[in-house]
Amino acid sequence: MVVLGPLAITLLPPSLALLVFHLSSSQDVFSEPSSEQQPCGLREHPTVAFADLKPWVSNFTYPGARDFSQLALDPSRNQLIVGARNYLFRLSLANVSLLQATEWASNEDTRRSCQSKGKTEEECQNYVRVLIVAGRKVFMCGTNAFSPVCSSRQVGNLSRTMEKINGVARCPYDPRHNSTAVISSQGELYAATVIDFSGRDPAIYRSLGSGPPLRTAQYNSKWLNEPNFVAAYDIGLFAYFFLRENAVEHDCGRTVYSRVARVCKNDVGGRFLLEDTWTTFMKARLNCSRPGCLPVAAQKSCWPRPAREPLLEEVQEHTQTQSQLATATKRMLGCGIIN
Ligand SMILES: *[C@@H]1O[C@H](CO)[C@@H](O)[C@H](O)[C@H]1NC(C)=O
Ligand SMILES: *[C@@H]1O[C@H](CO)[C@@H](O)[C@H](O)[C@H]1NC(C)=O
Ligand SMILES: *[C@@H]1O[C@H](CO)[C@@H](O)[C@H](O)[C@H]1NC(C)=O
Ligand SMILES: *[C@@H]1O[C@H](CO)[C@@H](O)[C@H](O)[C@H]1NC(C)=O
Ligand SMILES: *[C@@H]1O[C@H](CO)[C@@H](O)[C@H](O)[C@H]1NC(C)=O
Repeated sequence: MVVLGPLAITLLPPSLALLVFHLSSSQDVFSEPSSEQQPCGLREHPTVAFADLKPWVSNFTYPGARDFSQLALDPSRNQLIVGARNYLFRLSLANVSLLQATEWASNEDTRRSCQSKGKTEEECQNYVRVLIVAGRKVFMCGTNAFSPVCSSRQVGNLSRTMEKINGVARCPYDPRHNSTAVISSQGELYAATVIDFSGRDPAIYRSLGSGPPLRTAQYNSKWLNEPNFVAAYDIGLFAYFFLRENAVEHDCGRTVYSRVARVCKNDVGGRFLLEDTWTTFMKARLNCSRPGCLPVAAQKSCWPRPAREPLLEEVQEHTQTQSQLATATKRMLGCGIIN
């Protein structure tokens, strides 16, 4: 049986409920096809009752495990890799049965040092915040009691650690911070996260590849203003980041805008003082009103090179990129079609 990934995921602590769709199933769970004909004609955001989905939902629980925050597919084995608080799991994709459970907790010293800095016992655990299958490896990062750490493990055996590296600028310290990361086809890690203990320094940071490490300008609200990162994608020549942040264009009050940001993967950074900073960073606002699904309005907001075309107009020149971005936008934000 072919399984078309976990298309919708509900986290019901302390259990992981997965909605698994089977291609062989003839039933339409969501009546989506109409979106093909009329992608922006929907008046309301489609909703489906949980009871209607029950036949497709599988439940997974494990004693002591919760915060099942990260999921990654291992399509070659039809397995699902799950990152939870202090645990990693491998599950069968067909029936969500447990294949392997591996504990990944912070050690006693790290937990004690975390608590001595005023953090609670709850905060001083290892929360998995990055989990990416890349070839035969799974790359993962955890908050590790406010001492972020990353490791590479064998995809078919999560107990086999191949490499362990520092997780700073790849994973947040605080499990509450919303971060995202993607590994490019060139093997570079693009992480969007806060990169300091206090959580005041957000960045889109590249590391691990052959190019120089680069970041967004530090403490510059025009680049990033208290962002919440949602998702990251490697598409063609670019890395894309979906986020919401406080709008700097609003001088009074606090307004949150949804955005897409982009960097060129071949960026080698600026010169002199800016040598560790992106020169190709751009972002645009998404017009993503709910309910319904409206066209994305590109607002030109482009630093540090204001003479460029708006991001989304550029994207439109690449049909493939456009449809991928539209799919991503729709999946992550529930709306936002680029026409
Ligand atoms: C999954 O488990 C949770 C908690 O144990 C329960 O509340 C929920 O109803 C279960 N869902 C299904 C579909 O069995
Ligand atoms: C789950 O599926 C695997 C293979 O896909 C099978 O070996 C196993 O017996 C199944 N487990 C249950 C509980 O159905
Ligand atoms: C998985 O890796 C661990 C640690 O290297 C090893 O002890 C164990 O035998 C491996 N399990 C399998 C099934 O290969
Ligand atoms: C992260 O996102 C969630 C849900 O979108 C939100 O409730 C939470 O406040 C965010 N965390 C931070 C630190 O802003
Ligand atoms: C967002 O789209 C709606 C509907 O097309 C439009 O009325 C609104 O003006 C747009 N907002 C911005 C900021 O462009």
